[in-house]
Amino acid sequence: MFSKETYIARRNQLRKDVGQGIIIIQGNHEASCNYPDNTYYFRQDSTFLYFFGLQREDLIGVLDCDNGQDYLFANDYDIDDIIWTGPLPSVADLAASVGVTNSGSLADLQVFCNKGIAQARRIHYLPPYRADNKLQLSKLLGMKPCAIDKYASMDLIKACVKQRSIKSAEEIAEIEKAIATAYNMHVGAMKMAMPGRYEYELAGFMEGQAWMGNGPLSFPVIMTIHGETLHNHNHNHKLELGRMLVMDAGCETEMNYCSDITRSVPVGGKFNDRQRTIYEIVLNANLEAARVTRPGITYQEVHTAASRVLAQGYKDLGILKGNLDDIVANGAHSLLMPHGLGHMMGLDVHDMENYGQINVGYDDEIRPSEQFGLGSLRCGRRLQPGFVITDEPGCYFIPALIDKWHAEGTNKEFINFDELEKWKDFGGIRIEDDILVTDTGCRVLGKPIPKTVAEIEATMAE
Ligand code: GLY
Ligand code: MN
Ligand code: MN
Repeated sequence: MFSKETYIARRNQLRKDVGQGIIIIQGNHEASCNYPDNTYYFRQDSTFLYFFGLQREDLIGVLDCDNGQDYLFANDYDIDDIIWTGPLPSVADLAASVGVTNSGSLADLQVFCNKGIAQARRIHYLPPYRADNKLQLSKLLGMKPCAIDKYASMDLIKACVKQRSIKSAEEIAEIEKAIATAYNMHVGAMKMAMPGRYEYELAGFMEGQAWMGNGPLSFPVIMTIHGETLHNHNHNHKLELGRMLVMDAGCETEMNYCSDITRSVPVGGKFNDRQRTIYEIVLNANLEAARVTRPGITYQEVHTAASRVLAQGYKDLGILKGNLDDIVANGAHSLLMPHGLGHMMGLDVHDMENYGQINVGYDDEIRPSEQFGLGSLRCGRRLQPGFVITDEPGCYFIPALIDKWHAEGTNKEFINFDELEKWKDFGGIRIEDDILVTDTGCRVLGKPIPKTVAEIEATMAE
């Protein structure tokens, strides 16, 4: 945990930004896997972590904007729990550890809510993404579960996004810790990427490395020789010479700050000509994005700058044709990259997406594009110092999508479908770094993980 002063300052700021009323911030509960007592790994809610920092299940935080008081509600453990769990701090002790002066039971919380409702006070809450939290809110507020999402507080969402978008120095240090573990995950897996191994062996190694860094994965590992499937979670293929292996994986620290790194390597450790050609086009796009990222530019513009590099590379290869500006304006290059350049990252790997992606990545000034590809960009806003964002261009030869565009004639004036036919069995490549927007530009976070052709070949030869 950070010091209690960090959490007190964050809560004070939140109360100030929301202005009036009561704010309810729900922690998470244990979630059962296949029978009630066999639970998944416990993951605390990220908003709760940001403002209260506590890892125990079943906690609820309340901030009163009108009297400046904070509260922590939960039931204390009794002896029936303690014989299974060992001694645990009381709710009052937990509250004091993060500078909260008031605490009570869940029954006290219900009384508190009833009073707030009777006084017609504004009650702010976030849209719950777990059914148990939705049911809990429904009971506390006397609302039908199906009405809960509709009345989630946009004022609270905006205040949370405002604060959490700007990472402090202590948060950056945590993120770099997560990237240090991701370094071990990726460099170790690169060295294992030899013919005859199975994807699941490398995926399992990565998950083990994450836990050796004392945290979980930040999302299920993507480890695949079929990288043309963007989020391929199947790990059953045997590695074969001639295939590119896409490894997209990150971890969380003990405090749940994330990393999200992708490296793509040739099985066996040596790029062939086709692999090197596509790899260097994607690498140049990744480098271009980092070159232009700075405060004041929008991430939509950065996405477009990276797209121009990809499109020029495909033009040089004969896959695309025509005027570069027109290719990019019409989104012809998106056939080979149907996703956006990146997303915010922090306490969530796709940071704050539970608030609604549009509320995090866009604002009144910058609205999402409707164009295929650019429309999938999760964060298009104007960048500010302190934002942490991913830079993750890719190239994917997706046979079903190529066939569809070919049959429909989509962007046919810019695409040489005969040439593209020769690449349909290639697979995919993605390269992903986590970058911090600084006062003057950006910094790729963490110890550099091998990324150039020469660095990857040298690492895999070890
Ligand atoms: N692995 C998910 C992402 O890169 O966004
Ligand atoms: Mn990723
Ligand atoms: Mn990512």
